[in-house]
Formats: sequence, structure tokens, C-alpha cells
Amino acid sequence: MPTPVTLIPGDGIGPEVTEAARRVLDAAGADLEWHVHEAGGDVIEKYGLVIPPSTLYSIEKNKIALKGPIGTPIGKGFKSANVQLRQALDLYANVRPVHSLPGVHTRFENVNLIVIRENTEGLYSGIEHVVVPGVVESLKIITEKASTRIARYAFEMARREGRKRVTAVHKANIMKLSDGLFLECCRKVSQGYPEIKYDEVIVDAMSMHLVQRPEQFDVLVMENLYGDILSDLASGLVGGLGLTGSGNIGEHAAVFEAVHGSAPDIAGKGVANPTAVMLSGVMMLRHLGKLDVADRIEQAVYAVLGAGEYRTRDLGGTASTVAYADAIIAQLEQTQATSQALTQTPVEA
Ligand code: NAI
Repeated sequence: MPTPVTLIPGDGIGPEVTEAARRVLDAAGADLEWHVHEAGGDVIEKYGLVIPPSTLYSIEKNKIALKGPIGTPIGKGFKSANVQLRQALDLYANVRPVHSLPGVHTRFENVNLIVIRENTEGLYSGIEHVVVPGVVESLKIITEKASTRIARYAFEMARREGRKRVTAVHKANIMKLSDGLFLECCRKVSQGYPEIKYDEVIVDAMSMHLVQRPEQFDVLVMENLYGDILSDLASGLVGGLGLTGSGNIGEHAAVFEAVHGSAPDIAGKGVANPTAVMLSGVMMLRHLGKLDVADRIEQAVYAVLGAGEYRTRDLGGTASTVAYADAIIAQLEQTQATSQALTQTPVEA
């Protein structure tokens, strides 16, 4: 039976890149039943909310979603649909793997790190108010519960994936209480994982280390805002936002999406790079236990990137979003035909 998955196309380039990813996952035989639902600024007029109850219900029921980016107005307007979704479904761990890709040449060859961002609190709690005209207060909430569970998630992931080092990123020299509590929780959790090296780096120094020698890092764990900023920075190290997938993981549901936003500057032009959403789809399939099909899609994406004939504009190519997806589908079909031919070739006695 096909696995039901909620699909949120999103805004801007969202519908273009999610459609490309959906075609690739279907062509690979992922056996998914897509339940398409809306979210974002465009649906406010219809439902009065950025996340209609039917969308939330669908994710709660299916426990899994692939999501396109959703734009958020700057300095005014509604609260981010992304933040609302993460908080409503308690998707506490934002996992953003960043690694060098075949054929995508940057200053660095061997980047292979995971940014793990606490997804439900920090400055994203959205508690802001005007104290008196000209003075605004924005509260950063850090709790022992959320810090402990994100630290545990990071160490568990490191153990599962055979990674050697977890680095907590902080600014506890200035935010002594809030980031201090975050570090205290990380330290406590680290004691349960003696085989994994644990260390701490201040967020500003981490920014420098990442652009100088990113190869040295393995798993990075941090609160919400630092994770948001450093994961975009890390994407830039391996070729840009169009290449980095992510998962928002909770106890009861998981929503996979690209790290990038709705890219209004290129929306509707058919030039967006759908790799990030495709690799988010690969993460989703692994989360569902569909490991073989996930591996095949990943290999097909790497093969097309490596060959370099089809590249989107952000990587210096001229391929459209659709042409690039077509090339990946052709690669999947070719690999399948080759493996079928190999299994059918009679072995000589
Ligand atoms: P952005 O990620 O949308 O774009 C930054 C730059 O990267 C732009 O030049 C864009 O053209 C390029 N870019 C992004 N994705 C690309 C892709 N797949 N292929 C090729 N080029 C790509 O960030 P920006 O402009 O800061 O945000 C735009 C909107 O997206 C905002 O309303 C923001 O709130 C929202 N946003 C939503 C996110 C989500 O839904 N998870 C995450 C980040 C931002």
C-alpha cells in the first residue's frame, strides 16, 4: 500500500521545486500517496489562518510531510507559518546535513557536517512587545527541557551515524543565563556518550571557523537563531541554498523541507534548483524506512550533478527546473535498466 504523505507546495519557487521533487520520488518508485494541502500568506483570505486546520490535521494523521518554502512578511503582518507549524507539531529538532556534492566545486572539498537546531523556542518564541514608544522587548526563551532534548537528539544522531564529535554553539559569555543553561544541558547529556568528543565554540568564532576550515566539524548543536543563520552559511560552503535539505523532527510528526526560502526574485521563472527539496525527500524516505529508494534517488542526483550537463542557473548552468528533474528521472531509469540487465544476464557454467 502506498504511504500517505502530506505535500505543501508553499509560496514563490515552492510549487516549482516541490513538483520536481515529487516527480523524481514517484519515478523512483517511492510508492507514496500525496495529500496536497495549502499553507502560507495566500491562504489567509480563505481561512483566516496561515495554516488551515485541514493542513495541520493531514500532517498529524500522516505523521509526515514534504513542504515547499513559505514567505513571511518582514517587520509586520502574520507570524511565520514555518514557526507556527514547528511549534504546533512540536517539531523540536531541525536537522540540516551539509556536505560537499559531486561536481559542485567550491573552496572546500570534504565538508560533511550536520547542523542541529533547536526549533521551538529561543528568540523564535515570538514574544515581543513595545515597552514604551521607541523601546521594544523581544524575549529569548531557553528551557532545560528543550535544551536537554535537542542535545540528546544530537548525541543520539551522532551515535547512530558513527560520528565522532558534537560541538555546542553558544554565546554564553554574554547571555550567561540563557545560553549558559543551554550549555549546562549539553554538558550533562554529553556524559552519557563517552565515545563522542564534546566541545563548545562561541557562535561568532564558529562563523569564522566554518568559512576557514569547515572540514573539521562533525555535528553542531545550537539554539534556534544561531542554527538558522549558521545553516545558511554552511549551505554556502557547499554550493548554496538550492542544495541543502532538512528535516523538522518531532515525537509524533516530521516535516521535510529545503533550507532555502521562497526566493521571490526567481519565482515563476522555472530556474530554481530543486536539489534541496529532492534531498529533503531523500531524508523523508529514510525516515520512513524506504532506504533503497532513498539511496537510488540520492545516487541519481549525484550522478547528474557530477556529469555537469544539466545544471540550474545558481550552479552556473542553463537547465530549467523541469529539465534538471527530467535528467534525474532519465538517470534513475538508466540505472534501473542496467541493474535489470545485469540480473537477467545468464551466468556461464
Ligand atoms: P531565500 O532562501 O528565499 O533566497 C535567498 C537567495 O537564494 C535568493 O537570491 C534566491 O534566489 C536564492 N535561492 C534560494 N533558493 C534557491 C533555489 N532553490 N535555487 C536557486 N536559488 C535559490 O531567502 P530570502 O530571500 O531571505 O527569503 C525569501 C522568503 O522566504 C522570506 O519571506 C522568508 O521569510 C522565507 N523563508 C522561508 C523559509 C521556509 O519556508 N522554510 C526559510 C527561509 C526563508
